[in-house]
This record gives sequence, structure tokens and C-alpha cells, in this order.
Amino acid sequence: MEIIIKKTAEEAGRAAARLLAEVVQKKPESVLGLATGSTPLPVYRELIDMERRGEVDFSRVHTVNLDEYVGLGPDHPQSYRRFMEENLFCHLSIAAENTFVPDGLAADIPAACDAYEEKIAALGGIDLQLLGIGHDGHIGFNEPDRVFSVGTHQVHLTAMTREANARFFPSAEEVPASAVTMGVGTVMQAEKLVLLATGADKAEIVKKALEGEVDPQVPASVIRLHRNVTVILDKAAASRLSQGRESALKRI
Ligand code: PGA
Repeated sequence: MEIIIKKTAEEAGRAAARLLAEVVQKKPESVLGLATGSTPLPVYRELIDMERRGEVDFSRVHTVNLDEYVGLGPDHPQSYRRFMEENLFCHLSIAAENTFVPDGLAADIPAACDAYEEKIAALGGIDLQLLGIGHDGHIGFNEPDRVFSVGTHQVHLTAMTREANARFFPSAEEVPASAVTMGVGTVMQAEKLVLLATGADKAEIVKKALEGEVDPQVPASVIRLHRNVTVILDKAAASRLSQGRESALKRI
């Protein structure tokens, strides 16, 4: 596991963007696994700028997103499909039909989950999966549990997650109670993982995930078992890492 620590969230985001762009530069038809939330916004801004500068070409890329709220369609302002359109897809040369987000409106959710797994397999698997981390250690919407989840499935969101996401909704009651998410197993099958965490509010969970036990109660801790993972932090999110470890790994 490689840990990169940058001074600011913007710089951390740019470093993550460079890793995504590198994958696409080497393999123009790459499959990128993408994430929503506040953390990846600087990544997406940089990818848009990089394509505008002619440094990378997304026209042959496919993307698969980690998750979507159940009950929210593409027209809903808080749906993750809409988030991705507004913050990334509509600014890139990527073909709309090559972007995939779980269907929050599917009539048969288990069947749609299976179809999502089949889609990822048919694309040849994920070359790089970008991850954020929730305050409870979730990746995608894989919440703390007794076991690590395997494939794409429906989850009930914890009170902590709904509260954290309430800032995007007119009221806390409007945060959906459930979501569809790739499983931890789906994520772990990606060729490469990049976990990005920024801000002092993530420092405690980053320490638990990177220095505690690998434990399904901290879903993000599983990434330490992956053979090709880069964690990118800003100084604030890295601030609770044990001293020796931080200075040994520091690359500001
Ligand atoms: P955030 O969400 O980037 O908005 O903090 C991260 C997550 O919940 O995975």
C-alpha cells in the first residue's frame, strides 16, 4: 500500500486525478470506477482541465459508479447519476452510453444488481476504482457489518450516513433510507484502488482503516488486502496516523 500525503484537499485531488489519467493514457479504453460525494470533486475538476489541455482523452473510456440511492432517478437533483452528469460526464468527451450508475428506480432491484455485476464483467472488469471513505468507514454504501459484502446489492443506510448526507437534501427526512452499492468484493476485484480522504473530520476513521484491524466493522480497512492500492490524504486527514508511519510515508 502506498500512502501519499498532500498539503491541501485540492492537491490531494489533483494527485488522484493524475493516477486516473495515467491509466487512461496507457489504456484509452479503460474502465474507471467512480465515486460521488464532496471528496472527489477536485479530482473531477482536474480531469476536466486535463482533457481540455489535451493531456488525456476520455472518448473511449467506460465508467461504472459505486452506488445510487434507491428511489432517486436521473432527474432528481440529489441522485448520483445527476451528480456525475453535472460534475464530470457532461464536461468530458466520454459517450453518455458508456457511463454506468446503478439504477435507483429499478422495479426488480436484486435483478438490477445482478445485471450491474454482469455489466462490469462484460466490460472486462474495473481498471481503477476511486473510493472515498465515510465517517463510519464505509466504501460505496457498504456500511459496517459482520461480514464483508460480495457483489452489488441493496443496503439500508445507517443513521450516521443519512445524517452526513442530509446536507445535500432540503431536509434530513428526504435522504433515502436505502441505496444500491457495489459490494466490497466488487471493489476488491478492481485492478487498482485509489482511496482519497481529505479533511480533519476523516482523520480518525483514516487511522482506524489504515492502522486498526482489517474488520468488516470498518469496511475501508479491507483495501489493505488489495495488491495495488494508493491512499491519498491531505495533511488534515493524515493527522492522526501514528508519527513514525506518517513521516516514513510522507511525500508532500
Ligand atoms: P464525502 O463522502 O466525500 O462527501 O465525505 C465520502 C463517502 O461517504 O464515501
